[in-house]
Amino acid sequence: RDAQMRWAIAGPLDSAGSDAGPGKRAVVMTMGALHDGHLELVRRASEEAGPNGQVVVTIFVNPLQFGAGEDLDTYPRDLDGDVAKLAGAGADVVFAPAPEVVYPDGDPVVRVSAGHIGDVLEGEHRPGHLDGVLTVVLKLMHLVRPDVALFGEKDAQQLLAVRRMVRDLEVSVEVVGVPTVREPDGLALSSRNAYLSADEREQALALSRALRAGEAAAGSGPAGVINAAREVLDEADGVVVDYLALVDPVTVDAVTDDYSGHALLLVAARVGTTRLIDNQAIEVS
Ligand code: PAJ
Repeated sequence: RDAQMRWAIAGPLDSAGSDAGPGKRAVVMTMGALHDGHLELVRRASEEAGPNGQVVVTIFVNPLQFGAGEDLDTYPRDLDGDVAKLAGAGADVVFAPAPEVVYPDGDPVVRVSAGHIGDVLEGEHRPGHLDGVLTVVLKLMHLVRPDVALFGEKDAQQLLAVRRMVRDLEVSVEVVGVPTVREPDGLALSSRNAYLSADEREQALALSRALRAGEAAAGSGPAGVINAAREVLDEADGVVVDYLALVDPVTVDAVTDDYSGHALLLVAARVGTTRLIDNQAIEVS
């Protein structure tokens, strides 16, 4: 199997050796084309691992989570560039397996189902996507055997599904969510931003602008939040909204009109041919 995978040691595995305790193994799972959002996860992973710990970064563009007609073949890939970035961010090991290593028998027969979480919102627009994510996340957990796994809040529904899998299937790992890293103008960092033209990039700002408008209306109840966000999206040029929803952050069900408390405002939209998602936690009252 070693011949089919690329391991790169970006730093010493037995670093420090001080009194700081045994340290943990922390994993950051990615599909590569790394940006500062990914690198923030790696930095947080270093902290979680401790000076005697180990940070493992996986890079794998998982075919199972792409639907027909999606961007599996064109998804940006730059392994050498990624490894160079990771060396500076505190990663100890990069695990970038070939598809035949992760799926030696072809597509897996037994898979993880995200259940209801995988059917709504992202699931409605990308059927099977979250099942594919959970299946590879669980496989990578078994291959890497981490104590801690870090995921970005940027992909809120994914983070929620992973937390639920870990709970429901007794996966022996601590899941840590990391806040979304944004450009100074608000655009959430994403590997898919590379697809945007200059004009589209400008149009894409409507997503984060809508979330901020929703947050500013937090005191006006669920309908106030949704309306404030929708108004921004309605006025935006070149943005085709897949969904805008205010949901319970555990069940992903839309909150009722009289709801108050923690909620997640989620948006997905297409700008040109690029599909973008973003979200904002809101304390609704
Ligand atoms: P990918 O899109 O490469 O993202 C890898 C991790 O980086 C995810 O946990 C994602 O939420 C996080 N991330 C991406 N952009 C971020 C940002 N702007 N701020 C903070 N974190 C960000 O998500 C996947 O890959 C895949 O589905 C994967 C979990 C690897 C399974 O294949």
